[in-house]
Amino acid sequence: MPIITCIDDLKQLHRRRAPKMFFDYVESGSYTEQTFRDNSADFAEIRLRQKVAVDLLGRTTDSTMIGHRVAMPVALAPVGLAGMQSADGEIKAARAAEAFGVPFTLSTMSICSIEDIARHTTTPFWFQLYVMNDQDYVAATIERAKRAGCSALVLTLDLQILGQRHKDIKNDLSAPPRLTLKNLIDFATRPRWVAGMALTRRHSFGNIVGHAKGVDDLTSLTRWTNEQFDPQLDWAKIARIRDQWGGKLILKGILDVDDARRAADFGADAILVSNHGGRQLDGALSSIRMLPGIVKAVGDRTEVFLDSGIRSGQDVLKALALGAKGTFIGRSYIYGLGAMGQAGVTRALDIIHKELDITMALCGEKSVAGLGRHNLLLPADFGTRYR
Ligand SMILES: Cc1cc2nc3c(=O)[nH]c(=O)nc-3n(C[C@H](O)[C@H](O)[C@H](O)COP(=O)(O)O)c2cc1C
Repeated sequence: MPIITCIDDLKQLHRRRAPKMFFDYVESGSYTEQTFRDNSADFAEIRLRQKVAVDLLGRTTDSTMIGHRVAMPVALAPVGLAGMQSADGEIKAARAAEAFGVPFTLSTMSICSIEDIARHTTTPFWFQLYVMNDQDYVAATIERAKRAGCSALVLTLDLQILGQRHKDIKNDLSAPPRLTLKNLIDFATRPRWVAGMALTRRHSFGNIVGHAKGVDDLTSLTRWTNEQFDPQLDWAKIARIRDQWGGKLILKGILDVDDARRAADFGADAILVSNHGGRQLDGALSSIRMLPGIVKAVGDRTEVFLDSGIRSGQDVLKALALGAKGTFIGRSYIYGLGAMGQAGVTRALDIIHKELDITMALCGEKSVAGLGRHNLLLPADFGTRYR
């Protein structure tokens, strides 16, 4: 067992332990992957200001996100098919998040269902909704999330049309995977994964199969998901969903200043500045580069969160210093899940927490609330280079 000291170590282990098609599903962006690469590269452009001779006792990363207390302002982002990286993956990730004291967001496209997560956790989790054409399904799903006690709805706005990821097509990605010779040869080298999957019955989309009309087998499910995302989602429909839900609402996938203003006027509890981890509009700017303009545009009318490209506590600190109230991580915890199940997600959270705490201290700060522009050294044109 290798010694794990950083998120990249978890990624290397994930690559070895999960089937190729599922690791590739995580480790890809759309088309040329330019935005996927920029998300991380742009964090690396930001440098930190070292401060000395500051009393560093009593530091804390405690904070709040939409009024919920969090051990650090880092939520687990919704990630489809997490239950294919490790058996019952969403339950494992939700439990790790609960024990750590950070929010877990369940994807519509998860393997474990809303009810599964509710049964295996005690603190409320967040639910991410994709809007489908089938309005009965959308309404019923919102009701299920309410019944399960979900404490926020994360409405994803940047995936009404699916961005193309070449590897998923080449690998013939599906859940459950097809038992082709190529896949069977691949599984033979992942005994841990196979053993886990043999012990669970959760192998397909738990929020959809048995809930959406006419979906009872995989073939129709694949067709259903391709056809069912609502390409006409607009602000009027978003308002309808807000009314149906009636609770805390986070709008996910905002990357433009005008859209951010609109979302703030709309009264969202928070917006999540995101380009879906570089998986949708290839050629879009990185989230971290768009963040300063968006923070300035919305002021304190809504909380601003950020995801896409966070691989360390230093990245979290940079986002907070640029004005985000909180962050989300996707791949960083999924690598942990694929590497070591629940323990791997805990490890990912520990790594990021420790990095955040130490980096904060070396910047001379004792709390996340104290972070700001004064902690950063930015290229002169950061956030304004492209107009
Ligand atoms: C494998 C994978 C699956 C994802 N599935 C969903 C999803 O079902 N719903 C959603 O809103 N976002 C989804 N996302 C986007 C994440 O919520 C998040 O925006 C993204 O992972 C952030 O970038 P990062 O991975 O660089 O942290 C997915 C991301 C990945 C990597």
